[in-house]
Amino acid sequence: MEAVATEAAMRRSGIIQRYRQWMPVTDATPVITLFEGDTPLIPAPALAAAIDSKLKIYLKYEGLNPTGSFKDRGMTMAISKAVEAGARAVICASTGNTAASAAAYSARAGIKCAVLLPAGEVALGKVSQSLMHGATVIAIDGNFDDALRLVREITDEYPIELVNSLNPYRIEGQKSGAFEICDALDGPPDFHCIPVGNAGNITAYWKGYTEYFNAGRIDRRPKMLGFQAAGSAPIVKGHPIENPETLATAIRIGNPASWKQAEAARDESGGMIDMVTDEEIVEAYKMLARLEGVFCEPASAASVAGLRKTAASGYFSEPATAVCILTGHGLKDPNRAVSCADPLVELPPDKGRILDLLGF
Ligand code: F0G
Repeated sequence: MEAVATEAAMRRSGIIQRYRQWMPVTDATPVITLFEGDTPLIPAPALAAAIDSKLKIYLKYEGLNPTGSFKDRGMTMAISKAVEAGARAVICASTGNTAASAAAYSARAGIKCAVLLPAGEVALGKVSQSLMHGATVIAIDGNFDDALRLVREITDEYPIELVNSLNPYRIEGQKSGAFEICDALDGPPDFHCIPVGNAGNITAYWKGYTEYFNAGRIDRRPKMLGFQAAGSAPIVKGHPIENPETLATAIRIGNPASWKQAEAARDESGGMIDMVTDEEIVEAYKMLARLEGVFCEPASAASVAGLRKTAASGYFSEPATAVCILTGHGLKDPNRAVSCADPLVELPPDKGRILDLLGF
């Protein structure tokens, strides 16, 4: 009994404690954690029936991390290492989730945080988080790629730590997602479906699978299927996109920092990186909410939209397991949810009218 309790406690104590032997930490590293990770891997039978009955689909619901996105896995590492190195301040460019996570972990660590956001292109929930946690929130008249260029220049010249996924500790923390999937399934999935923006997460998952494979924990690695939004698909198109567009604002990125690493994950795994339209993203976003009861943000639904598109092309010839990474919570972007769903019905407080509407 005691061993079980200890294991459960370890699981809930954050990704650095849980996967300590795989993380670049020592006894001298102060662990700044909000008990991130240990997110559920939810079977999605109704979605599988709608997409391709040969598939067993699982949803890795990263929206259940402390700040509502997968970024917390990398941020616990990046902030812990920044504090260990004596940093007093961190900065990042962000489409919103990295900023929210950096702001929260900086607050917990008692250090300063500044975030650069593309003005008018960040979902409301994410802006509210960065502001509440006391970060200096700067909206620039430019896109994410402009913001990233600026923070790279600033951190090259001044003593302020960069906590975008160019920071290698971000990738180290995020690779824990792959460990959790393999531990939960007792092996790797056949296919790993993931949205691609700045391409840090696909890089991190591939690193995680590869480390487990090299250590003999798994006997093969999944095929990596990455999906960009059609209006922001530099890797698919083979060149940077100057003015990226998509309603999935989290992945509205035209020149991903980890471009080469994403291509390596694709090629070494025998997978692919494809793109999905905003219409396909919205359909998947609604299917997830209505068929499975799982509310994610639009960018996250790109993983399911991509799986659906791939299945429709006849790609899957035999039974297989596919894990879709749902990177962020649906409550991050309430405006998009309200504009995509059926409108609410306004009625006077009249029982007859209500029963009428309900068909009684
Ligand atoms: N999904 C969500 C919800 C995201 O916030 C992001 C990236 C991605 C997918 C793509 O992940 O960049 O590692 O390929 N958001 C970053 C941010 C860019 O600033 O929050 P990626």
